[in-house]
Amino acid sequence: MCGIVGFAGHEPCMDIIVDGLRRLEYRGYDSAGIAVDEGGTLRTARSEGKLDNLVKKLRLEPFYGTFGVGHTRWATHGRPTEDNAHPHRSGSVAVVHNGIIENHVELKAELRQKGYVFQSETDTEVIAHLVADFRAAGHDLAHAVFHAMSRLHGAYAIVVIDATEPGTLVGARLASPLVVGLGQGENFLASDVSAILARTRDIHFLEEGQLAIVKRDGVELRDATTFESLPLRPVHVTWTPAMAEKGGYKHFMLKEIHEQPRAVADTLRGRVSLERAEVVLPEVPLTREDLATASQIYLVACGTSWHAGLVGRYHFEDLAGVAVHVELASELRYRNAPIDDRTIVIAISQSGETADTLAAIREAKKKGAKVLSICNVIGSSIPRESVGTLYTHAGPEIGVASTKAFTTQLVALHLLAIHFGRLLGRLDEATARTELEALLHAPSLLEAALTLPGHDEPYIAIARRWHEAHSMLFLGRGNLYPIALEGALKLKEISYIHAEGQAAGEMKHGPIALIDERVPTVILNPRDAHFLKTRSNLAEVRARSGPVILVASADDPDAASHADHVLPIPAGIPSRLLPLVTSLPMQLLAYHMADFKGTDVDQPRNLAKSVTVE
Ligand code: M6R
Repeated sequence: MCGIVGFAGHEPCMDIIVDGLRRLEYRGYDSAGIAVDEGGTLRTARSEGKLDNLVKKLRLEPFYGTFGVGHTRWATHGRPTEDNAHPHRSGSVAVVHNGIIENHVELKAELRQKGYVFQSETDTEVIAHLVADFRAAGHDLAHAVFHAMSRLHGAYAIVVIDATEPGTLVGARLASPLVVGLGQGENFLASDVSAILARTRDIHFLEEGQLAIVKRDGVELRDATTFESLPLRPVHVTWTPAMAEKGGYKHFMLKEIHEQPRAVADTLRGRVSLERAEVVLPEVPLTREDLATASQIYLVACGTSWHAGLVGRYHFEDLAGVAVHVELASELRYRNAPIDDRTIVIAISQSGETADTLAAIREAKKKGAKVLSICNVIGSSIPRESVGTLYTHAGPEIGVASTKAFTTQLVALHLLAIHFGRLLGRLDEATARTELEALLHAPSLLEAALTLPGHDEPYIAIARRWHEAHSMLFLGRGNLYPIALEGALKLKEISYIHAEGQAAGEMKHGPIALIDERVPTVILNPRDAHFLKTRSNLAEVRARSGPVILVASADDPDAASHADHVLPIPAGIPSRLLPLVTSLPMQLLAYHMADFKGTDVDQPRNLAKSVTVE
C-alpha cells in the first residue's frame, strides 16, 4: 500500500526521501510525489506511475531543501493520476496520507463552504485544508494537526509540513502504521522501517493516537487526544539494510525463496529443548489451565497467512488433540461468531499491519478473547495488540508474493502445536522428542530441496510450455490441500494466470469439468498416507487429456510415466513436514512462470505487500 518518508536534517533531503521511497516500492503503488521546503517556499513534484517518472522530473529541477516528505500512493479514492498523487497542498501546508478518511464527503462540503478549493478526487485533500484552516486560526502546526485529527474518522497515517513553520514534520497515526526514526542530527517519519534502515535503526513505533513532532535536533511525542507529552520508547531494530537488498538474485522473491533454510532455522533457534522434549516459548503467556479451560481456538489471518493457518489445523489436531477454527479475518469480523472470554485467538500475519486481521482481533478482544499472534515484523500493530507474539524471524520480506514468511509461519504453528500438546499432557515425552528432532531437520530438508541436481530445469521447461495457459488447477489432499491453495494463489498473484486450488477428493464434485488438454493440473503427490488415493485423481485427470505437473518424491520410480512434467522433492520427508517442503515447488513454479512471462515479479499489478485498507 502507500508509503511515506519524511526527513528533517542538515543535508539536502531529496535523494534521501527518494531512496526511502525506492525501498518502499515493494509495497505496491501507482503514483509518487515529494514536497520539500526551499527556504520558506514549499516545492512539490508528483508523477503518475513508477518512481522513476518522478525521479526524471526531479533531475530536471532538483530540490535542495533539508526537510520534506515523500509518498508512494496506492489508489483508493480517485484514479492513479498526477492530480491525485500526494502530497496534497493547501497554501503552505502539504500532507501525505496512508489510509482512508471515511468522513471526507462531509468535511469536503464544510471546507468548500469556507472557500477552500479542491484540486483532486482524493479523500486526503481534506486533511490539507483542515490543517490550513486551523493554522489560519492561529495554531502552530502541531496543534493544527492535533485539532484536525479530532475531525477525522477512518484509518490514517499522516505527515504534514508547512513552509511557514520550517524544519518541523508532524506525523500522526490511527490504525495505519507510522514509525519515527532517530538519527544523528536528523530524524525521520516513515510508514515502514525498511525505508530508513540505511540511515538509522533506532525506531519508535508510533502507537495508535500518538502524534510526533519531528525536527532535526529532536522529536517530541504527544497524546493525540489530550496533547500531553509522552515518552519516546525507541527500539534498536536488528534488520540490516543488506537484508532488504537483492544480494545478486534477479528478484527479491527468488532471493527470499532461497533464504528459507536460514529463515526456518531462525524460527527454530532457541525454541527447542530436546533434553526436556519441550518447546521453549516464554513469549506465549498460556498456562495448562488457560488451555484446558479454553472453549475454542481460532486461527485468524488473510491470504497466504490463512493458508498457513489451514496447515496449522492439522498440527493442532494431531499433536495437541485440539480442534481449531481457521478463519479468514475479512469474514470473521462480519460474523456473529460465539467468541467469549474463554476463546483463544491466534492471529497470523507477516506484516502485522493487515487491516482485516487487526480489525478481527480487536472485535475478538472486545468479546473478551485472549489474543496471541504469529508475526514477522517486530513492533508492528498486531503484536502490539496481542498478549504474546511468536515472532517468525524470517527477516524482511520484500517480494509481494509471500514465501519465507509462509514457511516460517508453518514452523511457528508446528512449534505451537507441540507446545500445546505438551502443556495439555496429550503428547508424551518420547513422541514430542521425535517430533522436535524431525522439525530441527527442516532447514536441511529445505536446503536439499533447493539443491536437487538439475533443479531449475523442469521449472524452466514448464514455463516455456505453459506460460500462455489461461487456467491451471492445483490438487492436494490432507495437509497438502492448503499447499494446493497456496500454489494457486502464488501463480495468480505474479503470473496473472487464473489458478484454482482444490482438495484432490473434491475434483470429481465439479472442477473436473474444467479439464482438457489446455488446462494443466499441478498434483501434490509425494509419498504420504494419501499417496494412492491422490494417484487415482491423477489418473482421472490424464484420462481426460489433462496435462499433469506432478510434485513427487525423488524416489518415486513411476513419476515420469504418470506426468508431463515432474517436480521432485527429496525422498523420505516425514508427512508433517511435507507442507513445508512442497511449498518450494509451488513458489518456484509461480516464480519461473512469471519471470518467463516478464511480469513484475516483486511488485505484481494491483497488489500491495501490506494491505492496510479493509
Ligand atoms: O501481512 P499478512 O500476512 O497479514 O498479509 C496477508 C495477505 O495479504 C498476504 O499473505 C497476501 O496474500 C500475500 N501477497 C500472498 O503472497
